Amino acid sequence: MCGIVGYVGKRPAQDLIYKGLARLEYRGYDSAGIAALEKLSNGSFVTRMIKAPGKLKELRALWGQIDFPSSHAIGHTRWATHGEANQANAHPHRAGPITIVHNGIIENHQLIREELAAKGVSFSSDTDSELFGHLVRAERESGKTLLESVRLSFRRIQGASAFVVMDERLPGTIVVVRNGSPLVLGIGEGENFVASDVPAVLESTRNIYYLEDNELAELTSEQVRIYSLDGHERPLNTVEIDWALDAIDKQGYEHYMLKEIFEQPRALTDTLSAWLDLSQGRFRLDAAAVARKSKSDGRTLGHQEIVRAFCEATMVHVVACGTAAHAGYYGQQLIEKLARVPTRAELASEFRYRDPMLRPTDVGLVVSQSGETADTLAAVKLMKQSGMRVFAICNVRDSSIPRECDAVFYTNAGIEVGVASTKAFTTQMALLAVVACAMASHRGTIDAATEKLWVEALGHLPEVARHSLEQSADVEAVAKKYSKKKGYLFLGRGLFFPIALEGALKLKEIAYVHAEGYSAGELKHGPIAMVEPEMLVLALAPEGRGLLHAKTVSNIEEVRARKGTLLSFCAADDNQLKKISDSWIEVPPIGVTELLPILTVLSLQLFAYYVAVERGTEVDQPRNLAKSVTVE
Ligand code: AGP
Repeated sequence: MCGIVGYVGKRPAQDLIYKGLARLEYRGYDSAGIAALEKLSNGSFVTRMIKAPGKLKELRALWGQIDFPSSHAIGHTRWATHGEANQANAHPHRAGPITIVHNGIIENHQLIREELAAKGVSFSSDTDSELFGHLVRAERESGKTLLESVRLSFRRIQGASAFVVMDERLPGTIVVVRNGSPLVLGIGEGENFVASDVPAVLESTRNIYYLEDNELAELTSEQVRIYSLDGHERPLNTVEIDWALDAIDKQGYEHYMLKEIFEQPRALTDTLSAWLDLSQGRFRLDAAAVARKSKSDGRTLGHQEIVRAFCEATMVHVVACGTAAHAGYYGQQLIEKLARVPTRAELASEFRYRDPMLRPTDVGLVVSQSGETADTLAAVKLMKQSGMRVFAICNVRDSSIPRECDAVFYTNAGIEVGVASTKAFTTQMALLAVVACAMASHRGTIDAATEKLWVEALGHLPEVARHSLEQSADVEAVAKKYSKKKGYLFLGRGLFFPIALEGALKLKEIAYVHAEGYSAGELKHGPIAMVEPEMLVLALAPEGRGLLHAKTVSNIEEVRARKGTLLSFCAADDNQLKKISDSWIEVPPIGVTELLPILTVLSLQLFAYYVAVERGTEVDQPRNLAKSVTVE
């Protein structure tokens, strides 16, 4: 939440900051601002600042005010926590010569505010962030260096935060610090960058340093020095990023979300290929790319240790938030069903506060696209404290969650820009299916023939997903037809229940309509009261046969009897379901029915997308949301 960019070098900084912020706008878009240092004719420097509520493009109208050559600037795009999204609360914030941008929350802000106020400080915003600038200013006025002032001020505050600080009396130097909120340093030739995430600097450099918790850095155009919070210098161990730049362009699509929906066949291939030994019909747990992390003082577990942890697990705790939690619910069912290990999936925000019973022999499996979600990260730390092995399924390389875990299984979905998660979700589901099967194979709870069936089906998954997406015009037509309904009820059972939740979440977050995901069996325990012609009921039952399917169909009959409007996601030959539905979308078959939820959700993503477009909402940047939820 909140995007930060800073630059020191020789090029005009303002445009670089603006472009960087545009790459980070997914992190928040309540307001934006840039501060740059301008050199006066007498050789001294002054800070010029532009800030505007609303999206980044609003800053363009103010551009003339910072239209001077400056090679030292910082910028910010905000997701509001303390104080409404107005001009005064937009970052950067100034305290005399000190200017700061902030991502996070100062939990002890009240105490610090009172203390500063007692010393006669007056404030120009309602934010907690501004206070940090005043703390730094006070330290500077007592004769400390900027680095020392930031270090001492950071020790005063509580909560997860990242700050970027400049001082107009020290042109060409930026000091940054983080704990809990992400910051990366982009190391260039005669120029250096700081940002909340890699895409902001990718056009200028691929040489990245991931700042660790409680680390500070001092950046000039020629040098970057890293320090621990107790003042010791640390080595600058950078990594080379190989992400393709075109991944962060829309490539002709109207929205990132649509582009990312259509990227899913490729994302599934890139995620699954390392795991599948198609010639032998076996899962591979030893692929070099599947388990990795790069924390300098940590160690990635070898595959034998990973296998042992899973084989000896007394229980698996799957923990995540939002869409990733829906993938987790799917994974829970598969792990328990295939590997026969007690498994519990739950929301990280609940898990961390309910004092869970954890044993060192239990295994944690956290799921996160960004690798930065505050509640999930806290859940990892809690599980680690109880001596458990904790593994991550994550999309963003070297982000905070993977670095805290014993090993990480990466979803290779590529950069996901749309705030509504799509390709990260389906690759998480696919990878959870792999983990469940691989565990089952090692624990001896599935035989070789079953393993082969799964390997083959997962091998076909990308191709079948492509086939499913070819029906987008049909989905668009039904979305248009039903875009103005009063409410939307998604019904599924078993493995289709998590995607009922996900279908409803997608619709809520991008189309701002009331939608709920329910287990079809729960219908008559309450929600059936809402059923009437203006309520669209979406029935997720593409298996076409089996006990649970028969049960779902009879639940759907109950909807029909009450004149609900029915849209079914069904098998091509399921005439029984088609007969009672007002409309239907066919889901193509695949070798194992447990993978059908992955194919079905593609159509649910498209449905939400087209409803949102029809209703004219902001698809890629829905109101009030941010992609990385780095605060509680
Ligand atoms: C998904 O569409 C949401 N925007 C959101 O629920 C998201 O999945 C959640 O915040 C978890 O994020 P993570 O996967 O990056 O941890």
